[in-house]
Amino acid sequence: MNDSLGSPQSVLVLGGSSEIARAVVRELVARRAQRVVLAGRPSAELEEAADEARSLGATDVATVTLEITDIDTIPALIDGVFQAHGDFDLVLMAVGILGDQSTDEADPVAAARVITTNFTGPAAACLAVAGRLRSQGHGTLAVLSTVAGERVRRANFVYGSSKAGLDGFCQGLGDSLVGSGAHLLIVRPGFVHTRMTTGMPAAPLSTTADQVAKVVVSGLEKKADVVWAPPPFRWLMVVMRHLPRVVWRRIPR
Ligand SMILES: NC(=O)c1ccc[n+]([C@@H]2O[C@H](COP(=O)([O-])OP(=O)(O)OC[C@H]3O[C@@H](n4cnc5c(N)ncnc54)[C@H](OP(=O)(O)O)[C@@H]3O)[C@@H](O)[C@H]2O)c1
Repeated sequence: MNDSLGSPQSVLVLGGSSEIARAVVRELVARRAQRVVLAGRPSAELEEAADEARSLGATDVATVTLEITDIDTIPALIDGVFQAHGDFDLVLMAVGILGDQSTDEADPVAAARVITTNFTGPAAACLAVAGRLRSQGHGTLAVLSTVAGERVRRANFVYGSSKAGLDGFCQGLGDSLVGSGAHLLIVRPGFVHTRMTTGMPAAPLSTTADQVAKVVVSGLEKKADVVWAPPPFRWLMVVMRHLPRVVWRRIPR
């Protein structure tokens, strides 16, 4: 259960090597989170993330193998993690790939891979997690969406639509959890300086993983349904959503 100050003590990250997820874990361990389970594809980065959580003071840290495109394995994997490690106060969904719009839009199989990684697999995992949180009667599922999914652009419609799908799915899933004791938080960052965006020119209002983590923690404290990182994106997107299509389709990147 969250501690007496409302901070999660146990955290499961799906996409445990994600740089944004690592920043969230750092924030939470600094606020006394003790149990951290990182699910992801086996890699040096995943082990580094686990070592980092341990070195910051988490006492019970484990890694679990997750391949999000192996959809059939996901429900049993989530059940297994909860059975092995007990209740979680927070589950963070951080899996995602940017893909390469120019090649993906010319290659239906590559585009489908982006959509499976960003939408189909995470949606299945979120549903499995929501079932466990509902049975626990407490806990938050936080999902890394993006402003790119709020209104999909010509310039990155494969990634944008995959995240829009997940965002819409999670809006409905969050509503279905109302009254269960469990909660769903949608996080919509703009451009974040992580390995996902390395080499790309920074977009306006670009931010860092550490700043996104602070927004996530503040959203958890407030039991918000949706947060934007940085927060002014909330109001910018109100305007962007209503731009005439003829203008919208010319927006680069
Ligand atoms: N960076 C941004 O500008 C930005 C903006 C808005 C939203 N987001 C979202 O934030 C989330 C985290 O992104 P990030 O910036 O932290 O990038 P990141 O460090 O590249 O994290 C992506 C995570 O997804 C995992 N992943 C990718 N394909 C997978 C698969 N098939 N099975 C299991 N795990 C897989 C990666 O694991 P591996 O280490 O095994 O590859 C990694 O843990 C993503 O959902 C992204 O869409 C990012």
